[in-house]
Amino acid sequence: MNAALASTTVAGAAAQATSDASDTRRLRDALGAYPTGVTIVTTRGPDGRAVGLTVNSFASLSLAPALLLWSLANRSPNRRAFRAASHFAINVLAAGQEALARRFANPALADKFDGVAWQPAPALEVPLLAGTLAHFVCECRDAIEAGDHTLFIGRVEQHMHVDGEPLVFHAGHFAALR
Ligand SMILES: Cc1cc2nc3c(=O)[nH]c(=O)nc-3n(C[C@H](O)[C@H](O)[C@H](O)COP(=O)(O)O)c2cc1C
Repeated sequence: MNAALASTTVAGAAAQATSDASDTRRLRDALGAYPTGVTIVTTRGPDGRAVGLTVNSFASLSLAPALLLWSLANRSPNRRAFRAASHFAINVLAAGQEALARRFANPALADKFDGVAWQPAPALEVPLLAGTLAHFVCECRDAIEAGDHTLFIGRVEQHMHVDGEPLVFHAGHFAALR
């Protein structure tokens, strides 16, 4: 390849990378236009360790049977734990639990559960966080690879809810309804 062609190709690749990055940014911004609640999804690793992360991809899927879904980035260090686990729990955060949401979205923390109030679900051991608006303890029914995420489908085995204001996520920011 001559030098002029090589530099054109390199410049073209750089321009493509920039345009891919700005497309991804615009897609993320568009997705952020849709407000969601905020959850922390938890399970136990094969070694019994509590694991969890902040998730807003949670959605209900079916009422009869009671199924719900969420998706996990394949780069997550907790992917193996969730794939191996028989159960997981969805903890729906209340308006005052933004600090908890930020904590469980921080990949740098060695133990996200350190200093956090929680108890194991009856008979199933998956962590249920204190002070939440609702939780769903689910048997993992399916884990489907889709793009750069894995879609988890769970069947609800236990659930609870209390009245209260939810924590909301919109346009990259935490918010409250009122
Ligand atoms: C509001 C909010 C929602 C999020 N939703 C998801 C999600 O649905 N799936 C996901 O894999 N990561 C999601 N994340 C990012 C993870 O919480 C974050 O990458 C976390 O560090 C993952 O933990 P891990 O690295 O220990 O797996 C979200 C983060 C925030 C702040």
